[in-house]
Amino acid sequence: MSEWEPNILAFACNWCSYAGADLAGVSRFQYPATVKILRVMCSSRVEPSFILKALKDGADGVLVAGCHIGDCHYIDGNRNAEARINNTKKALEKLGFGGRLRLEWISASEGLRFSEVIKDFTEEIRNLGENPVKEVKENE
Ligand code: FES
Repeated sequence: MSEWEPNILAFACNWCSYAGADLAGVSRFQYPATVKILRVMCSSRVEPSFILKALKDGADGVLVAGCHIGDCHYIDGNRNAEARINNTKKALEKLGFGGRLRLEWISASEGLRFSEVIKDFTEEIRNLGENPVKEVKENE
């Protein structure tokens, strides 16, 4: 029997966080291999439906990573993303998925920070346990 490892989907904006993830790789900063990174042009591109779909499909956690405030390539994209993610978090709390969504600002030069965020979020999700949707799917 294999031991469960948290399965995280990370949406990373092209201009900052994806480059930060790339730097983490090039710099050989270790982070769990169970994270899947999906590049989006801006953190504001991540719609609540994307997050719900990821959780419905069995992701244990969803990370949205974008440029630091003031650095967004599209001026206010990350501010809009912050408002949207905060609202989505509230909805997820009510649905029983509290703690499974995280928003972080990670610049292109923060490879180490990228790996640390992934490690930290992975531990948080490990403490929360598996996505309960998986159990429902297995019993269908
Ligand atoms: Fe990075 Fe908007 S381009 S958050």
